[in-house]
Formats: sequence, C-alpha cells, structure tokens
Amino acid sequence: MSTESATATINTSEAGALALDAADPIARFRERFHLLPGRIYLDGNSLGLLSRDAESETLRALEQWKTLGIDGWLGADPPWFTLGEELGSLLAPLVGAEPEAVVVTGSTTVNQHALTATFYRPHGGRRKIVATALDFPSDVYALQSLIHLHGGDPRHDLVLVPSRDGRTILEEDVIAALTDDVALALLPAVLYRSGQLLDIPLLAAEAQVRRIPLGFDCAHSIGAVPHSFDEWGVDWAFWCSYKYLNAGPGATGGLYVNRRHWGTTPGLAGWWGYEKTQQFDMVHAWQGAGAAGAWQISTPPLLATSPLRGALRLFHEAGITSLRAKSLTQTDYLSRLLEETGLMAPPYNFAIGTPRPPERRGGHIAVEHEEAPRIARALKARGIVPDFRAPNVIRLAPAPLYTSYHELWQTVQALGEIVDSGEHLRLTRGRELVA
Ligand SMILES: Cc1ncc(COP(=O)(O)O)c(C=O)c1O
Repeated sequence: MSTESATATINTSEAGALALDAADPIARFRERFHLLPGRIYLDGNSLGLLSRDAESETLRALEQWKTLGIDGWLGADPPWFTLGEELGSLLAPLVGAEPEAVVVTGSTTVNQHALTATFYRPHGGRRKIVATALDFPSDVYALQSLIHLHGGDPRHDLVLVPSRDGRTILEEDVIAALTDDVALALLPAVLYRSGQLLDIPLLAAEAQVRRIPLGFDCAHSIGAVPHSFDEWGVDWAFWCSYKYLNAGPGATGGLYVNRRHWGTTPGLAGWWGYEKTQQFDMVHAWQGAGAAGAWQISTPPLLATSPLRGALRLFHEAGITSLRAKSLTQTDYLSRLLEETGLMAPPYNFAIGTPRPPERRGGHIAVEHEEAPRIARALKARGIVPDFRAPNVIRLAPAPLYTSYHELWQTVQALGEIVDSGEHLRLTRGRELVA
C-alpha cells in the first residue's frame, strides 16, 4: 500500500517548484557538485556528476603517487593496500551491512562473475539458474557463460522469469520459479528500465527457505534506496559506483557477502583476496581473507577508486534516509506533474512505466512514448540530459544530492513544448550509439 501523502493535486506552477526548492532540507548539497553549465542533468542513474569532494580525493591520490611512489601502498593516507576494505566499511551503511561484509573492488559484471562462480554449484538435479526476462543484458550474458563453463545449456538451465506487463516482475512469479532444480538465483534490486524496486526481504527469505543462494544486482539501487542486507539475510550482492554514487566513469564497484558465507573459497580467486597480513608471503597455498575481502581479485585501480572516498562523504553527511525521502518526493512530483499538466492524455500521450507505490520504485521514472528516441534527443538538444532505453523509455533520474524541483518542472514543460512544436519530428529516427 502506498505510504505517500494523499494530496489529490500538486501546485503545478513554476512558483510551486521554486517553493519546493526553498523548503528542501538537503538543497545545499547541490553546491558541492560541478553542475554542467546551462544543462539540466537527469542521467545520474547512468553516470552521476562529479562532486568537488570526489575531485579533491582524486587529486590527492595523484599527489600521493607523485610524492610517495611505491610507498603509497602503506604510507598514503589512507593506505592504498587496504583501500578496498576501508571504502567497503564506509559504504556498508548504504547496504545495511557490518563493515567487513562489504568491499570496494572490481566492476559490476566482474563482481557478478566472482560471486556467481562461487555460489553456483550445480549438482544432481539442481542445475538451474533463475533470473528475470527484464534483466540488464550483461547479467544474462554472464549467467549464460557461467552455465557453459559448467557444461550446461542456457536454453534449459537459465530460467528467465517473464514479465506480465513488459515493465515489471511480480515477486510471486519469482517465488514460483524457485523450484527444487534451482542451484542459484540472481535478481535486480531495481529494474534498469522501469525502475521497479523488488521486495528484497521477501525474496531473500523465500530463497533461504529453499536453500537457493540468491544475489542481487544493485547497480540501480545503491545510493538511491536504503538496504538492510544483514537483517534480511541476503546472501550476496554487487553494484557499480558510477551511477547514484557519483564516483566517475568506470569507477571501482563493490560487493557484499553475508557473514554466513565468509570462509567459502571464491570461485575466481586472486592474490588481492588473500589474507592481507600474509599476502606478501607469496606462498601458493590459498588462504583467503576472513570476510568479503576474499572476493577481491586484483590490485585495485587507485585512480578509479579514490573518487568514491569523496563521493561517499556526501552520502554520510546527507544520510541515505534523507536522500531516499527526497528521491521519492521528486519522482512523485515528476509523475504528478506529467499527469496534472495533461501530458498523459492526447495529443501528448506520455505514459509512466514505473510503479507508483513508493516501496515499489527506485530512483528514476520511466517515461514512455512511441517517439521516445527522438523526444529524448530533442530534450538533449534543449540542454536537458535524460537517457533512452529501447524501445520506448525516456529515463528521468532526479539525483537528490543535486537535482532541483525547478529542473524537474522545466523538464516537464519541455516535454510538452517538444510535442506541441513537433521539433522531435525534424530529427532523424533512432538512438545514439551510446544512449
Ligand atoms: C543493472 C546493471 N547491471 C550491470 C551493468 C553492467 O555494468 P558494468 O559495465 O559496470 O559491468 C549495468 C550497467 O549499466 C547495469 O545497469
């Protein structure tokens, strides 16, 4: 059931938007970012903007490399040698985990491989992997290759829970797919296209009863939605740091492993997952770190990891609860503006593909339109940056750290004006190479 306020209408005027900004308790964080001059940036769910904090941590890492050379591994502040663990403990509150259950390492798909290679142990009649038909393609490619590595055939061993409406996945359909022949399940916390938030605690509990290791791809929930992984008993999870966490293009990702799995031998081991005090003994017998650190593989890319330290400072100062509250208010405001200014009716015909109840949505709104590719590009031509996901979705992601209500109001105005003027019709069809 929706816990949103039951107000029937909102103030759809520009003054109404400005009043919301004036009353926003976390509006001050906007000044900490390098905003793009003259542009409204609503693509923080693909690549978040650079904060001054992330920039200064990166410059500090460069300076320490310049002045310390190899001694930076232990002598830098913080030491590079244990940076993955340190950042993991700083990130742990965002996923509701004890500090050692999280490590900053790898990247989304690589971390997925590292975790699924560990927890997929097909045996006897248990060979199947459950995922969903609306998963991000990389997740599915990785699962297909994992099944091939084990001599299986994805046509039989990969079960993609279908969507009934093309936008969302019903938890009851996932639960029905968790049968006796399933060896592993992987689900998105938030679906990348529609922005649906799955009921993680319910699914984690159902998987545990059935003894099926279940992990979550949190690329679209980390930094946008609070999690309580320890409390919910989630087995494992992974994410990137370049979306809502604002740590930069290709920034080092992260992973979570529940305490009950610590000590399990990683499926893709590497020396960075070795017990830290003995890593440089250089012996060949494996002795993994005692917690999530064991799932690291390689030397961390320092320059792609350092920005996260600055970026996380903002999350600690603002608090994920306040950020989630603003995110929900902003996505609700955006949806209501679309409805109450008539954009869901002819001749505009926009639709919203994101579930309305707050507990079922992540950080973005999926605005659907049959002309979505050209309308997305027309928005961009006006200096408003959304992204497009085939076939018909314009994703609009307010980032609560730096997006204003006034920007959302301007965006909705622009959507109406684009359809009124037909300016999108003058653009060539199709999407950009990188949408
Ligand atoms: C939900 C989801 N999973 C996986 C990926 C793949 O990420 P990476 O390129 O960091 O492996 C992405 C990328 O945007 C994503 O959105």
